[in-house]
Amino acid sequence: MDAAATIVDPIALLTPYKMGKFNLSHRVVLAPLTRIRSYGNVPQPHAVLYYSQRASKGGLLIAEATGVSDTAQGYPDTPGVWTKEQVEAWKPIVDAVHAKGATFFCQIWHVGRLSNSGYQPNGQAPISSTDKPPTSNDFENFTSPRRLRTDEIPNIVNDFRLAARNAIEAGFDGVEIHGAHGYLLEQFMKDQVNDRTDEYGGSLENRCRFALEVVEAVVNEIGADKVGIRLSPFAEHSESGDSNPTELGLYMVNALNKYNILYCHVVEPRIKSSNVTVESPHSLVPLRKAFNGTFLVAGGYDRQDGINAIAENKADLVVYGRLFLANPDLPKRFALNAPLNKYKRESFYISDPVLGYTDYPFLNEENNVVA
Ligand SMILES: Cc1cc2nc3c(=O)[nH]c(=O)nc-3n(C[C@H](O)[C@H](O)[C@H](O)COP(=O)(O)O)c2cc1C
Repeated sequence: MDAAATIVDPIALLTPYKMGKFNLSHRVVLAPLTRIRSYGNVPQPHAVLYYSQRASKGGLLIAEATGVSDTAQGYPDTPGVWTKEQVEAWKPIVDAVHAKGATFFCQIWHVGRLSNSGYQPNGQAPISSTDKPPTSNDFENFTSPRRLRTDEIPNIVNDFRLAARNAIEAGFDGVEIHGAHGYLLEQFMKDQVNDRTDEYGGSLENRCRFALEVVEAVVNEIGADKVGIRLSPFAEHSESGDSNPTELGLYMVNALNKYNILYCHVVEPRIKSSNVTVESPHSLVPLRKAFNGTFLVAGGYDRQDGINAIAENKADLVVYGRLFLANPDLPKRFALNAPLNKYKRESFYISDPVLGYTDYPFLNEENNVVA
């Protein structure tokens, strides 16, 4: 079969899209993917190859979750963006992505209570909205967190602000605030976790206050045209469910509209946690309709689902995690409707600088070249 014949009619996923000032040539976005290969929290030279492999002209890449401060980590060797050394280490990575003609956002992150004292300065307790630890143990042994005092919260907001400034200094085109998956921002937003009685707890408005203060600070620092956020109102990672996720999601997108941020990136209700996918009666359509900026969707998408989402106007861009991890040339494979490499779960989170990281083959490197 002549593969070129299959791209005569461009599929919806591969049509151009203007996201604010960024001219994207297709809708296939690299998801933020923690890879645990930033030794000592410093991005490494092997990330230059990893990200540039996944960059394409007019593509959008979102970097892996990147710590905003020395209290932000909960896993080994995740990158940060709070020190000069980290900022300098990101620069060649960002340059390589730009050299390929892609746009690159940095996901800025604080794990909150999903941590243990071994990752914390001076072995202190992780910080959170609460002093309740999660009882399940998905990944690491969690240490009971310390509930942030009300007067400490501005310091954490400021850490996000500085991290955003540093990300821009490193050359990123913008930042995605990590407001998903049970991490610090969600520990405030979700009523299964937040048990505060101050102005950051109780009502929906109060629970969303911290996340929105972070958004406001980051917007004021780098400009709304460079700010996105990731939300997962329907997810229940590490006991971070909410009793009314649709209401929470709608409250957030309506509040985000006031800040005019560039994009909102929402995880599909079918993704409950890293290991659990469900049939869900919920949909992101009400959030998509309510949000004024660019709407990104993620979670369990394959080629056809992505095409449908764009064609049915359920999203502007579709974010791919595991498929992009395993297929550095995913947009091209989608264009050609070519076979995909299978991802290898066992090498998602290992330290090796090559294995399961930069050694997934490109289409023309395979024996069974589609032609
Ligand atoms: C190895 C791995 C690392 C991930 N790291 C992050 C992360 O750093 N930040 C984040 O928001 N989501 C993270 N996720 C979730 C993905 O961004 C994505 O939402 C999820 O994989 C579902 O999309 P998919 O079905 O296309 O893989 C990670 C997922 C995987 C498999």
